[in-house]
Amino acid sequence: MGRLDHKIAFITGAAGSIGAATARRFAAEGARVALSDVDADALHALADDLGRDYALALPADVTDSAQVRGAVEQAVRRFGALDITFANAGIFGAVANIIDYPEDVFDRVLAVNVRGPFLVAKHALAAMRDGGSMIINSSVVGLTADPGIAAYATSKHALVGLMRTAAKEMAPRGIRVNTIHPGPVSNAFQHRIELTATGAGTEERAAEIFEELIPLGRHATPEEVAAAVLFLASDESAFLTGATVPLDGGMSV
Ligand SMILES: NC(=O)c1ccc[n+]([C@@H]2O[C@H](COP(=O)([O-])OP(=O)(O)OC[C@H]3O[C@@H](n4cnc5c(N)ncnc54)[C@H](O)[C@@H]3O)[C@@H](O)[C@H]2O)c1
Repeated sequence: MGRLDHKIAFITGAAGSIGAATARRFAAEGARVALSDVDADALHALADDLGRDYALALPADVTDSAQVRGAVEQAVRRFGALDITFANAGIFGAVANIIDYPEDVFDRVLAVNVRGPFLVAKHALAAMRDGGSMIINSSVVGLTADPGIAAYATSKHALVGLMRTAAKEMAPRGIRVNTIHPGPVSNAFQHRIELTATGAGTEERAAEIFEELIPLGRHATPEEVAAAVLFLASDESAFLTGATVPLDGGMSV
């Protein structure tokens, strides 16, 4: 018996580190997974690996409404319904103080990280069965902030507003909506940020500087994030909605 038997999940950013770890965990727990990302090659490779009976690759850009709607429609056509949505695709942007922050980068980060999850919510929630679960991937800096990350922190805070609105709108149908707020995860996305933000010469030194800020003293693994997403996606969290779930080793305390 899997924890997601008979459930169908739609995951954006599925070709990336956290998205792929979640897709693998969902599939291992019995779900069928509709995988979406702009990186079509990595997406098809993941779907092949999971098995075409259980996984479907749906290349789409989350900033494009027609593409997101098309991906959701294909997922429903193939698997018959949707029970779980994980809005996970995201980008970081630049490190610069607000006075110097490039406006085009700010606009792009907001487009991918806010308009994207809004469009995913708009199209996927309409297609989901009653009793489903949507999880939105924010960040520890959706609850806190640091100098130099105006676009990213603004975008990740905005997701709390989207989540709280959706949680109240969808409650009459028994659909739950929550955000997760991961701290630094050990993957390429985070290593790039750490090198830029610290100016340290090596990935290892940059990681150490960040780990001094984390009470548990280490990065999370993508699998640890996937485990929390699994809990929120499953019926084990049936009374949990409208919550901001920290996954940050105590960083936001
Ligand atoms: N890595 C961390 O430490 C960390 C911490 C907190 C939150 N997050 C969040 O987790 C999510 C996943 O990040 P990750 O660490 O797996 O990084 P990642 O770069 O491995 O994954 C992000 C994925 O999103 C996809 N993507 C980017 N723009 C897109 C678009 N316009 N449309 C569709 N897909 C798009 C990328 O192709 C990539 O596969 C992001 O929202 C990120 O902000 C990451």
